[in-house]
Amino acid sequence: MECIVRPAQSADCDHLMGMIREIAEYHNLLDEVKINSQVLSADGFGGDPFYQCLVAELAPEQEGKQGHLIGYALFFFGYSVNTGRIVYLENLYVVSESRGQGIGKKLMSEVAKLALARGCVEMKFTVAEWNVRALAWYRQLGAQDKTEAGGWHCVELGGEALQRLAGDRR
Ligand SMILES: CC(C)(COP(=O)(O)OP(=O)(O)OC[C@H]1O[C@@H](n2cnc3c(N)ncnc32)[C@H](O)[C@@H]1OP(=O)(O)O)[C@@H](O)C(=O)NCCC(=O)NCCS
Repeated sequence: MECIVRPAQSADCDHLMGMIREIAEYHNLLDEVKINSQVLSADGFGGDPFYQCLVAELAPEQEGKQGHLIGYALFFFGYSVNTGRIVYLENLYVVSESRGQGIGKKLMSEVAKLALARGCVEMKFTVAEWNVRALAWYRQLGAQDKTEAGGWHCVELGGEALQRLAGDRR
């Protein structure tokens, strides 16, 4: 399948939001999706972007399907005190009917190119334990499971705990 990978634009946010809901559903976490396409657009395409995103789009020559998005990689840059500049891959998704055709790898490869161009030395991401297919997929790209190798836990502090910590009791 011929597809192009390009930076997402604000106009893609409705479609992107649909795919974000699909991957949340895949993880049985639809209730945890609190953002909408307006938030996604403001956070990614406003004055102080919090993330970057690449989308896979069917190539124009696929008659009648121009502009049809079939996957995305959403990521942002960060810093490791051990290794320096890193990229964090928040989400990688290819719609079910387009999987196994090299699109996920193409998206990952483009994120890797952008990361290397910005001096990053690592790409980090988390994978659900039950998602053995995705784990195997990342492994064949050369990724290492840090939970398995070093016992690292993925920890979050959010909602009321975060507000309490900040002294804000709204
Ligand atoms: C994981 C996902 C992004 C992969 O995208 P994809 O487009 O289906 O994968 P690709 O077609 O690019 O895979 C390319 C390579 O991986 C190999 N591969 C595919 N599935 C594999 C698997 N389960 N285990 C090992 N290798 C696999 C292919 O043989 C191919 O190798 P090659 O380039 O040497 O020929 C996609 O399946 C997906 O969106 N899954 C559901 C959501 C998800 O789990 N996302 C990750 C959340 S952390």
